[in-house]
Parts: sequence; structure tokens; C-alpha cells
Amino acid sequence: MSELREPAVRVRENAHAPYSNFKVGAAIRGASGAVYCGCNVENVAYPEGTCAEAGAIAAMVAAGETRLTEAYVVAGSDLPVTPCGGCRQKLAEFGAGEVQVTMATVAGTEQVMTLAELLPGAFGAAHMKG
Ligand code: THU
Repeated sequence: MSELREPAVRVRENAHAPYSNFKVGAAIRGASGAVYCGCNVENVAYPEGTCAEAGAIAAMVAAGETRLTEAYVVAGSDLPVTPCGGCRQKLAEFGAGEVQVTMATVAGTEQVMTLAELLPGAFGAAHMKG
């Protein structure tokens, strides 16, 4: 089991999700080995809410890291929670296609996919050339 599960489950408890009642926790490992955590932070102006993955990525970048090597996302759902489309693009900004993303439930069910599997045909820096 990934070492990222415990911090992801722990940070999920801090999620601010009074509107959806759907708490999500995310933990990512930076290339240095350090672990960064984030939870979803909702807002009464609904579109202003942010996802758990976005929070973890922001913590990593604020700490001075820009590469991630592993990600773990957990929610209290029946099915392992999958990153939304926007978060797939955010994760792809900092992680290679082979980076493993573990999607999990609080109860312990896990599903592992790579970033390339989660976001096939991703828009990347190469598309900006020429
Ligand atoms: N959410 C996340 O934080 N990460 C995901 O991977 C899926 C969805 C949040 C956004 C919102 O606060 C709540 O879950 C319901 O969509």
C-alpha cells in the first residue's frame, strides 16, 4: 500500500465541503521525496471551490518543487474517487505520463492508473511550439 494513503486520509478530515458533503484528500510526492497534502475547499459561490489535488499541487509549488512522482486521492465514496478533468490537466503539468495515481475510498478500495491513462492525448508544451 502506498505511503501516501495515511497523509491523504488525514488531510481529508480538514476538507471544507459543507455544500457537497463530499470530502476529498490528496497527497503527492515531489521529486525530492517530500509529501504534500491538500483537501477540497468549497465556497458559497460554488465555482470558487478548489479540489484536493489542486491544494496539494499548490503546496508542492509553494515549497519550491515542480515535479511530482506519485499521487493518491481518497474520498468517502463507494467507488474510488477519480480526479476531475481539470485536476488531470493540473497533475499532468507536473508529472510524467508514467506517474501512478492511486484512487481510493476511505474503506480501502484502491484503483491505480497512470497519468497518461487518465489524460490520453494531453495538451502539453509541445503543442505550443511552431
Ligand atoms: N473533488 C476533489 O476535490 N477532487 C476530485 O478528484 C473530485 C472532486 C471535490 C470538488 C468538490 O468540492 C467535491 O469534491 C464535489 O465535487
